[in-house]
This record gives sequence, structure tokens and C-alpha cells, in this order.
Amino acid sequence: MSDPITYARAHQADYLAELIDFLRIPSISTQPERTDDTAVAAQWLADKMKQAGLENVEIITTQRHPLVYADWLHAGDAPTVLIYGHYDVQPAEPLELWDSPPFEPTVRDDYLYARGSSDDKGQAYIHAKAVEAILQSNGRLPVNVKFIVEGEEESGGESLEAFIPQNKAKLAADVALVSDTAMVSAQQPAIVYGLRGMCYAYIDIEGPKRDLHSGSFGGGINNPLNVLGHIIAKLKDEDGRILMPGFYDAVRPLTEQERNILAQFPLDEAAWLAESGAPEPWGDPDYTLVERLGARPTLDVHGIIGGYTGPGAKTVLPAKVHAKLSMRLVPDQDPDEIFRLLKAYVAKLAPPSVKVTVTLEHGALASITDFNIPAMQAAAKAYATAFGQEPVFMREGGSIPVVSQFQSELGLETVLMGFGLPGDQIHAPNERFYLPNFYRGIETSIHFLQNLLFNTHD
Ligand code: BES
Ligand code: MN
Ligand code: MN
Repeated sequence: MSDPITYARAHQADYLAELIDFLRIPSISTQPERTDDTAVAAQWLADKMKQAGLENVEIITTQRHPLVYADWLHAGDAPTVLIYGHYDVQPAEPLELWDSPPFEPTVRDDYLYARGSSDDKGQAYIHAKAVEAILQSNGRLPVNVKFIVEGEEESGGESLEAFIPQNKAKLAADVALVSDTAMVSAQQPAIVYGLRGMCYAYIDIEGPKRDLHSGSFGGGINNPLNVLGHIIAKLKDEDGRILMPGFYDAVRPLTEQERNILAQFPLDEAAWLAESGAPEPWGDPDYTLVERLGARPTLDVHGIIGGYTGPGAKTVLPAKVHAKLSMRLVPDQDPDEIFRLLKAYVAKLAPPSVKVTVTLEHGALASITDFNIPAMQAAAKAYATAFGQEPVFMREGGSIPVVSQFQSELGLETVLMGFGLPGDQIHAPNERFYLPNFYRGIETSIHFLQNLLFNTHD
């Protein structure tokens, strides 16, 4: 018998080999033709959880992709931690931009390249291995643990959203733990205490019944693509202020205290800009860059479909055009209310010469966690031990829909203990995971579970 840290260090090569297996499964939740692969990934994870010594391992079928549940509940009065992750991944396209194929995991330097390596298979697997290391060395865990891992986070998370209110007792815990965010840098860990929410919508515009010759009809029939351009142009001004009436009404103002905390955030602006490749930063001049990235809402168009996009010229008035857009929300904006405002505003902007429809794709609430809770201290101490550096507390611009639901339905605060890096290229070609963070992550998780007992127990 050895201690869990020694055990985990001795098994790093096995853990890497397993993670590589996991990453070979193309569990893309948004693509219907990958449905079998998400089921394979769920089964793979369930098997590994069993081998780790977890109990009551269950694959829970849903309307879409299965959930994986497992627990270990023999720590008596000690706290219970609910560990969440997602085994689904983003689509890998455009494939030609990958230096090695997305589902053939490849180690180059200290990085493991594969779709899902950082978001979120690599990070989620950390906790399964931490639990295994403790169980194999000590025969028991210091706290009670429940895992819930979903397979559709990247496509809205509806199945888990429906499962939670129906299974409150099953998921009951004292705190939630999620690793699905990034650190500031390889030297600087971070605990995220705020996530943005989301309102994702489509705008569809129909004009003539078929594509028209722009010589015979141009000037006399309105062009849906031009209308779309006008509508999009009126959604926000050139500095990034959103123009939709009422959009900011529910935004909880930043307190002086929070602005001071955010002002101290060690963002390396030059490195951040270089990572983007854009010529200069941009955004609402009334807020600092750090505030704009995590604590203020956004509106972005993600795709426009319409008209002729093949080689050379074609003079056509397209019959139908489409746009996809999303708004990142902050407390206390409500995605359904924001969608109503968008719909009303677009209806007002739409001329009678075309037919405009606005549809909600999915919504998620933002979340803010109290960072004075004992579990946060347990996490901070765990990072300090494993990384030799105290974490900073930050707000993240991305969204993890389930976190606000843990709060509202289960009364749980979530510790967002991220092990990704800003350069991980999540959702993009050449996604990667910094392997030292995989191993340090396992050690951080071991320390966290051990600290939790002392930090939250009366
Ligand atoms: N892990 C990300 C969230 C994230 C993004 C954390 C960037 C840290 C940095 C998560 O998997 C994700 O991509 N979420 C989606 C949510 C959406 C589908 C509702 C997002 O933020 O776009
Ligand atoms: Mn994720
Ligand atoms: Mn993601």
C-alpha cells in the first residue's frame, strides 16, 4: 500500500493510455450520425468507473445521449461531493486544419492533441483517476462522492436539465465539483466563480418564392440578404453596446468591490491578444477588458447562410437567408426574457417586404458562486499543494449550463476547478491538453477530496 499521490504518480502512463482510448471515441453530441459513438463513450466511462472502485455505476438512457452515474457513499457523516463532467465533444471540422487527426490522439512535446482532450474528457477523467488512486491506496475515500457525467453539454444539455429535478435525492450533495474551465497560465491556477449564460437563436428571412434574377427584379423586390445585413447592423453599435431595448435591464451592476477584484486579475493582455491573432482588442469602452470578457453580456453572429457563395459572380436575389447568433448573459438576465426582447426588436426592424422568423435554439442561465464557502478554501489549498501556487478567483466568459441548475434545484454551490490552458484551442482545430496539468490535476483532486473533510466538517 502506498499513499494516493505516490500511487497516482506511479500510474501516470496507464492513465494517459486510458485517456487516449477515451479520446478515440468520436462522441460528438450535435451530429446525429455519431449517436452510436456517444453510447460507446458512455459505456467506456462506466466500465472505467467500475474498475476505479466506484459503485452503483449506471448508464441512464435519455431522450438523446445517456448520462453516466456512479457513487461511493461509505464516508458516513463526511460531506458529499457531486462531480460533474461531459463526455461529449464538439464537431472536429474543419478537418484539414488539424496537424494530426482529431480522433487519433497524439502526444507532441508536453501536449496531448485530440478533440475533447481539454474540453472535457481529459478534465473529467482527472477525478475518476483521483478517486481510483485514493481507493486503491487507502481502501476508502475521505468523503462521499457521486459522479454525474453527461453526453450533450455541447448541444444544450436538455436531458440532464430534465433529469435533475426528477432526481434530487439521487444527486443530493454538499458541494459540486466541475473541471471544465481553464487556468490563467501553466503557472497560475484559477478557480472560476462566475459563468455566463446563453441565449442562442436563429433569424430566418424569406423574400421571393424562389431565387430571382437581380436584373429583372433588383430594385423592385427587397433582397432578404440585404435585410439581414440591416437587421444585424442594428443589433449592436460599433463599440459593442447592444441596442435591443431592455437588454441590459436585468444586468446586476458590478459592485466597486468586484470591479476592484477584477482589476487585479493577472491577464497578460499581450499574450491574450497574440492568442487571438486579431490586430487589437475591442469592446464597450465603459468596461475594462477583463470585465468585458467575463462580467458583461455579449451578442455575436456565428454564421450567415444565403445567396450564391460558389466561385465567380452570380446575380441573384436569394429567396431565403439565415443567421445564427448568440448572446452571452450575466446575472440576472433570463434567457427566455432576452429571447422575447430579441424577437420583438427584430419584428420591429423587419420591413413588410420580407417575412422574418426568430427561433430560440437554447438558453442557459449565468451563475455566480460565493467564493467564501469552505469548499473553495479546500480547493485553493489543493491547488497550492499540487501546483505550488495559490489560485486566483475569476469570472469565465464561457457557459456551463448545469451550474446554475445545481444552485437552483439542488442548492449546491459549484467549485469550478479548471485544468485547461488558454491555448488549448477548445472547439477549434488542434485542441490539446497540457499533460503536466492532467497529472497535477489528479493530485489536486486527491488533495481537494482530502481537504474537504477538514474544511467543511464542523
Ligand atoms: N467547457 C466549455 C465552457 C468554457 C468555455 C469554459 C471556455 C472555459 C472557457 C463548455 O463545454 C462549452 O463549450 N460550453 C458552451 C455552452 C453552450 C453549448 C450552451 C459554450 O460556452 O459555448
Ligand atoms: Mn466543456
Ligand atoms: Mn465546450
